[in-house]
Amino acid sequence: MKFFLDTANLDQIKEAHDLGVLDGITTNPSLMAKEGIKGHDAVMGHYKTICEIVDGDVSAEVISVDLATMIEEGKALSAIHPNIVVKVPMTRDGVKAMKWFTDNGIRTNCTLVFSAGQAILAAKAGAAYVSPFIGRIDDTGWDGVQLIEQIAKIYSVQGFETQILAASIRNSNHIVQCAEAGANVCTTPLAPLLGLLNHPLTDIGLAKFIEDAKKFK
Ligand code: G3P
Repeated sequence: MKFFLDTANLDQIKEAHDLGVLDGITTNPSLMAKEGIKGHDAVMGHYKTICEIVDGDVSAEVISVDLATMIEEGKALSAIHPNIVVKVPMTRDGVKAMKWFTDNGIRTNCTLVFSAGQAILAAKAGAAYVSPFIGRIDDTGWDGVQLIEQIAKIYSVQGFETQILAASIRNSNHIVQCAEAGANVCTTPLAPLLGLLNHPLTDIGLAKFIEDAKKFK
């Protein structure tokens, strides 16, 4: 399973990159706004900077909802860098746009996916990635990880090549559960990723080894 960071924050991207296990980045309009990036040129420049830091796919989301404008936006985004993947919402026009991008050699990430039916549509439109939002599903009282399992089964049975990109990750256990459920990629904020490092027995064991090492130094 690949690790993507779900952020537009350059410091956090550098920190995850320095760890040596980062495979890509996903962003969305909320994450870009959070960084205070304003204006077309600044946004395009920010995506380029991210692509220069990380050697892997970088999802950049269209902010229009009609087919013609989504296509124009996606063309401009994909021209920024070969690693840009155009993120498109799961709507009627979004599906048409993904099919257009697929036919024209532009890779897409279908976002705002909350059901297996939507995931099938994304795969049929040729999306490179499908993004089920598991944390937001959990928030409504349903089981987000179960959706990952269901999509993984369908894609395997049907031979779809779309990669399952588990999104809306809220904690380290989500990452482990997504790996078990068959996600190809997990996109996470920095804290759940770093949380994978932690176990109290590791700390206790290391303290003991350091103490014992003093005896034969
Ligand atoms: O990037 C899409 C997704 O990961 C958003 O997560 O935490 O806003 O539900 P969240």
